[in-house]
Amino acid sequence: MDIKSIGYVGVEVSPLAEWERFAKRLLACHVTHRTTPDDQKVLALRLDEKCHRLLLLEAGIEGNAFFGFELEDASALAEAKRELEAHGMAVEDATPAELALRQVGGMLHFREPAGYRLELFHSLQNDPEPFVPARPMKGFRTGDLGFGHAVLVVPDLDKSRDFYCDVLGFRVSDYLLEPNRRVFMHTNGRHHSIALSERQGFGIAHLMFEVKEFDDLGRAYDIALAEYPGAIFSTLGRHSNDHMTSFYIQTPGGFPIEYGWGGRIVDDATWTVSNVFGPSLWGHDRIGASPEARKAADVQREFALNHGITAPLYPDAGSLGS
Ligand SMILES: [Fe+2]
Repeated sequence: MDIKSIGYVGVEVSPLAEWERFAKRLLACHVTHRTTPDDQKVLALRLDEKCHRLLLLEAGIEGNAFFGFELEDASALAEAKRELEAHGMAVEDATPAELALRQVGGMLHFREPAGYRLELFHSLQNDPEPFVPARPMKGFRTGDLGFGHAVLVVPDLDKSRDFYCDVLGFRVSDYLLEPNRRVFMHTNGRHHSIALSERQGFGIAHLMFEVKEFDDLGRAYDIALAEYPGAIFSTLGRHSNDHMTSFYIQTPGGFPIEYGWGGRIVDDATWTVSNVFGPSLWGHDRIGASPEARKAADVQREFALNHGITAPLYPDAGSLGS
């Protein structure tokens, strides 16, 4: 099947109260409020003209999440259903209430091998109101590249990767093998829309939002340092595979968000899969990670330093992909 992007993510969080200030002040999202038919409060975080890119649902099962993968239209959705059922997947069609919350033209959902709820949809609606970030900034890099990326914890990397690639049509970008195995996969020009981290547990390792302007990354980092210093999960740094300059911050929902700028674009015609030496060229001190994981990243960063490894910058990144 031909998945175009990850269009939206939904996460159940508790409580919502702290989220609104965080989403506006630090993330600079356009925040709107909704209520489901059964009175569940929802914060809809907008990054662009779409009615939402991240839905935060109050109560429910904390950390419970769904991931919306975009297909072209209703016929692509019907074909995808046939393909999933041919692979033995139990697929369910969206209820009217689910469609109304997501504001999509059609949706089906199923559990992938690690147990995450994936949703295939078409026609995510634009909001009738223009996108207005909560503080002055130049916006987020979305469009054909989707909302950003999601990294999920899985118990069996090979099994999960095979599902995403063989059934859903993702392509491997590269691997990180130490201190645990991670695979990065793309379905459009974004280096990875989804990545999997093999370790014990279940849940979102992080979500990534990409801003269009480098200075907007710096301003968000200023706010993180001044107003949320205890929530910084990883300091400012630059990734060795997607070349994103970013920092990570723990959200009130318990999972980190990577706030980045300047990710590279993958061209399938010339791309070759590799094992990357480590996650970062510099920075990204993982102060929120386990001591072992933090130490491993320190050693890998030292490798980059000792070998003088650098990567190109993409100063026009913000104008591409939307
Ligand atoms: Fe990331």
